[in-house]
Amino acid sequence: MNRRTALAGVVALTAGLTLAGCSSSDGAPDLTVSGAFMPQPVGDMAAGFLVVKNSGGTSDRLTSVTSPLSDDVTIHETKNQAMRMVTSFDVPAGGELDLRRGGNHIMFMKLKQRPEQGDTISVELHFEKADPIKVDLPVKETTYNPKTQ
Ligand code: CU
Repeated sequence: MNRRTALAGVVALTAGLTLAGCSSSDGAPDLTVSGAFMPQPVGDMAAGFLVVKNSGGTSDRLTSVTSPLSDDVTIHETKNQAMRMVTSFDVPAGGELDLRRGGNHIMFMKLKQRPEQGDTISVELHFEKADPIKVDLPVKETTYNPKTQ
């Protein structure tokens, strides 16, 4: 092996190590979803709640939600007991986005069907960086709130 090919080998090896270290520690967002549910709606709109945890070293943003239940799904924040639409929610690096009753939520308008307790509603969460995540929301009783149980 001459000096030039040996050097090229070292460079390639170093580049490989850098990439591997990057993806395992502070590379892409690493998202998991838990605690998803939908309270049985009483009218023609419904809300969805869940927690998105980011174990990665890079922050991400929830930018939209889609569902077969409705063509009009938006994300809302609640401030001073009034809700308003937002364009995205932060999913901080090493933290979580918490959609819970009385706070931030997914809003489904113009429902194509009326979900009943025991049904499952599928949604797809879309993020700025991470791949979309499909989630099943079990429909619970109208007053269900895991944070107080
Ligand atoms: Cu709302």
